[in-house]
Amino acid sequence: MLSRLICMALVLVLCPFFASRANAQGNASGQPVSFIRDIAPIFRENCFGCHGSKNPKGKLDMTKVETLRKGGTKEDPIVSGKPDESHLVDVLKATDASRMPPRETGAPLAAAKIALVERWIAEGAKVDGGIDTKSDLVKELRKRWSPPALLGQYSFPVSVTALAFTPDGKQLVTSGHHELCVWDVESGKLAKRVAIRSRRAMALQFLPDGKLVMAGGRPGEEGDVSVYDLSAPAARQDNGVAVLNGVSDPKVLVKRLLEADDEVECLSLSADGKKLAAGGCDRLIQVWDMSAGIAQAKLTDTIENHADWVFAVAFFPDNNRLASASRDKTAKVWDLKAKESVATFPEHQNPVFGVAVKADGSACYSVGEDKQVRAWNLTGDQGAKQIRAMGGAGGAVLKLAQHGKEPWLFSAGADAKIRQYEREKGNQIRELAGHKDYVLSLALNPSGDLLASGGWDGEIRLWNPKDGKLIKVFNASPGLKVVAAPAKP
Ligand code: HEC
Repeated sequence: MLSRLICMALVLVLCPFFASRANAQGNASGQPVSFIRDIAPIFRENCFGCHGSKNPKGKLDMTKVETLRKGGTKEDPIVSGKPDESHLVDVLKATDASRMPPRETGAPLAAAKIALVERWIAEGAKVDGGIDTKSDLVKELRKRWSPPALLGQYSFPVSVTALAFTPDGKQLVTSGHHELCVWDVESGKLAKRVAIRSRRAMALQFLPDGKLVMAGGRPGEEGDVSVYDLSAPAARQDNGVAVLNGVSDPKVLVKRLLEADDEVECLSLSADGKKLAAGGCDRLIQVWDMSAGIAQAKLTDTIENHADWVFAVAFFPDNNRLASASRDKTAKVWDLKAKESVATFPEHQNPVFGVAVKADGSACYSVGEDKQVRAWNLTGDQGAKQIRAMGGAGGAVLKLAQHGKEPWLFSAGADAKIRQYEREKGNQIRELAGHKDYVLSLALNPSGDLLASGGWDGEIRLWNPKDGKLIKVFNASPGLKVVAAPAKP
């Protein structure tokens, strides 16, 4: 945990993109306050969590101008032109229990932000042209946001939250900061960069036609499932590396399957290649029918089976049932035809981060905060029975990968190690040690003779799964040059 905190500090110190873009900036000049540019972001960051459109506190929905001005249990909290008479300003400045955001959630709003809200009201509480009073402000803000330009050289290590080998096994795609990086496996050299809207990819899945599906987003702000064509023409070359524009070039970003209000965490493609499932922080699992190709992909199911974030999904080999893992401390199985939940596995009693299904469908495997890999099967009466638990991990187990040919399971997580287990007996075959920080991602190449692992510190390790030998190590942060690493406390 400590090293994770240090890394967080490093990221915060060295990466200007993580710093919140101060909304109050740029207004000292005396130009009129813009509601959508200056005020709505303050509300979204500090108020929408409780004053959203679903069950808003005090019955006040702040996500639309219309509902904000209608007020909640009280009348319109804003008196245009008169900040001193506006209840909204009163609650921001209050020092008693009426303060917003409430005292138990932390500090009051910064004085500069309160002053900006007062100025906006003093100037007439106007709303910018083009924004309807009924518009969803979350969507309006998202429309106006664009990702930062690609970093020429990383001054901080990017955590590798997702990895995937290309179908020919020759390249490895890794998650970068608002980009996907494509590395030559043989040389460990950067071959291609694809700029994307998402701050980070959380899952990567190649389709049978060679296109790449990515699930990701910006935590707490937005999420997406997008499809990229890595063979599309490059927009430019940067130090001899092709850079593709996956933000706005339709030849690269060939399809956006989903836009969500929070990060999308996981993907699974059915064995027949015809169904794609995604799950995320909105607790939902969405399923698309891909049988007519990606251009005609059709959303067929939106499954609300978990009470919290969905961290992993995995199809059964029958292409019909879907296993899932959630922060709600359960793994579950959903039947797509019957449209019902068929099993709940509660044994982790802690958040469940990963799930996999055995190739013959006879067992499921899940991993979690409880440091265990658990094997279980369905009992047929909504139940799931544990077959065995595989322990040994020194911390939360975050990822799980199954070998396609050999009866091996690989798990990885907070103890910086990868563990290889015999699937049927549950014994640990070996431990792959060397990472210095959390291992966040695992992937096997199509032929099964290479295992890739990605760390919180940007380190990629390539291993031989047959003997556990390390084959290559490189950092997935292009041109990484850490400017000033803070001293360890
Ligand atoms: C952690 C949850 C939470 C957050 C965050 C929060 N509020 Fe509230 N808010 C409440 C609750 C609860 C009430 C109802 C209090 C009551 O009725 O006594 C409320 C009531 C209000 C009311 C009165 C509504 C009415 O008509 O009764 C206003 C105005 C308000 N909040 C503004 C804000 C603003 C502005 C922000 C952001 C700067 C904010 N709140 C952030 C929980 C929250």
